[in-house]
Amino acid sequence: MINDLPRGLTSRHPVAEDHARVLAVLDRWWGGLKGEAGAVERALLLPRLYFQHFTSTSLLIERPDGELAAFLVGFLSQTEPDVAYVHFVGVDPALHGQGVGRALYRAFFGLVRTQGRRYVHCITSPENTASQAFHTRLGFTATPVQPDYDGPGLDRVAFTVDLAPRPDGPSTPDRTVTGP
Ligand SMILES: CC(C)(COP(=O)(O)OP(=O)(O)OC[C@H]1O[C@@H](n2cnc3c(N)ncnc32)[C@H](O)[C@@H]1OP(=O)(O)O)[C@@H](O)C(=O)NCCC(=O)NCCS
Repeated sequence: MINDLPRGLTSRHPVAEDHARVLAVLDRWWGGLKGEAGAVERALLLPRLYFQHFTSTSLLIERPDGELAAFLVGFLSQTEPDVAYVHFVGVDPALHGQGVGRALYRAFFGLVRTQGRRYVHCITSPENTASQAFHTRLGFTATPVQPDYDGPGLDRVAFTVDLAPRPDGPSTPDRTVTGP
């Protein structure tokens, strides 16, 4: 499904049985970001429904032994017909910096383009500087920190990228593949 992964990794769409496996890695993969409150926040952001009703636009990557290596949970906006949304993405820290996150996004961009989506949106916590650097590197534009975006005390940075081909070359996400 994704053909530009590091050797040995394979991808597929998730199923409901993957829900518990993904929840089990969140705290380790996020490095305990924001402590106990962060752990609760993360678990509540990924209820089982995402592994039941959003599977065709979500992706899971596994090692040869079946161990979870990375995931992306995303969907098509119900409200905005040209928008898709990445809700949650994570890569095993042992695999960071090998292009797995970028490969997940490229695959997602490809999937949602076939559904006529031009823009991809996502959000992250102001504390998650790695996520901000990653999304910026992939061509996303960030807003300033938006206080209480997701509720009292839940500040967020919002990102968007335009998937349309640029007049002077390939579309933004493809351009970032060969960077800078
Ligand atoms: C953010 C995350 C998904 C990146 O995954 P990854 O597989 O390491 O990223 P990639 O190797 O594909 O990197 C893609 C680009 O982003 C850059 N990048 C990735 N992480 C970065 C970091 N921490 N700081 C600076 N740049 C970073 C890479 O240098 C690369 O740029 P380049 O190829 O142009 O040199 C991963 O660090 C992660 O899972 N973090 C914990 C969970 C999380 O915060 N998820 C996002 C919020 S929901």
